[in-house]
Amino acid sequence: MDSKTVYLNGRYLPLHDAKISVLDRGFLFGDGIYEVIPAYSGLLFHFEEHMERLENSLSSIRLTNPHSRAQWLEILEPLLDKNLDQYIYLQITRGAADKRDHAFPENIAPTVFAMCSNIAPVAGLESGVKAISVDDSRWELCNVKATTLLANILLRQQAVEKGCAEAILVKDGYVTEGAASNIFAVIDGILITPPQGSEILPGITRNVILDIARQNNIPYSEDIISLDALQTASEIWLTSSTREIVPVVQLDNEPIANGKPGPIWKAMNQLFQAYKQSHHE
Ligand code: PDD
Repeated sequence: MDSKTVYLNGRYLPLHDAKISVLDRGFLFGDGIYEVIPAYSGLLFHFEEHMERLENSLSSIRLTNPHSRAQWLEILEPLLDKNLDQYIYLQITRGAADKRDHAFPENIAPTVFAMCSNIAPVAGLESGVKAISVDDSRWELCNVKATTLLANILLRQQAVEKGCAEAILVKDGYVTEGAASNIFAVIDGILITPPQGSEILPGITRNVILDIARQNNIPYSEDIISLDALQTASEIWLTSSTREIVPVVQLDNEPIANGKPGPIWKAMNQLFQAYKQSHHE
């Protein structure tokens, strides 16, 4: 299907014809949730896990899932191109009521939107990227993939304005995640990532990396990381569905180790690429 074709409330239509009401609660309140699902050669990557997180996000905001997993697959598959590496962006809002009111309206249909984009190569992947650390100013339900992303975008923008690829968020002296990514560090030879909980998004890429580490005897732990400890790490990585595994070589203007992507990143990235390949063979 043409990459400019999108799905909106039961119809496939050109992107520019896809319109929602100004009373949509997604527009007025950010009252919605979303998912980002990569697709390699037309096959959705870890679809079931993305659906499980979608279901958790929906139930956290007390919204009924409008579709079964099989129906979601039927909706999303026509958007994909089997010759490309892409990702689906899918969003569900509480819908449009006939007036603006904070409390949930009764009997309105949710707005369901999905589009597909090509995955762009990450700039500077081979040489690594820079990051800054900033106070995590977000709310207390960071495990919910909510469209309400004002804090995240303000944090990411601070990073961009300092020539950095990502803002690493710090809460009470401990690292949580990136503005739009999970974080891993190699400290004393052990791969560490903060534990799941309401302070981070349970990243699907994060889980795949932990599985790969387990299967390949790479020592790892899910543990808290203080900012002080992060500054002494030999490697730092940021992970997400759209950027995969990105090595950070500079934090707050200081080099990480020798300022080059580390050996464990190289090994993990190769394993991850091979895993992706085997996933769609
Ligand atoms: N974001 N943490 C946050 C805050 C994120 O926004 C994301 C991804 C992740 C990584 O999750 P996953 O591995 O499942 O992509 C962690 C997506 C890509 C986005 O908002 O565009």
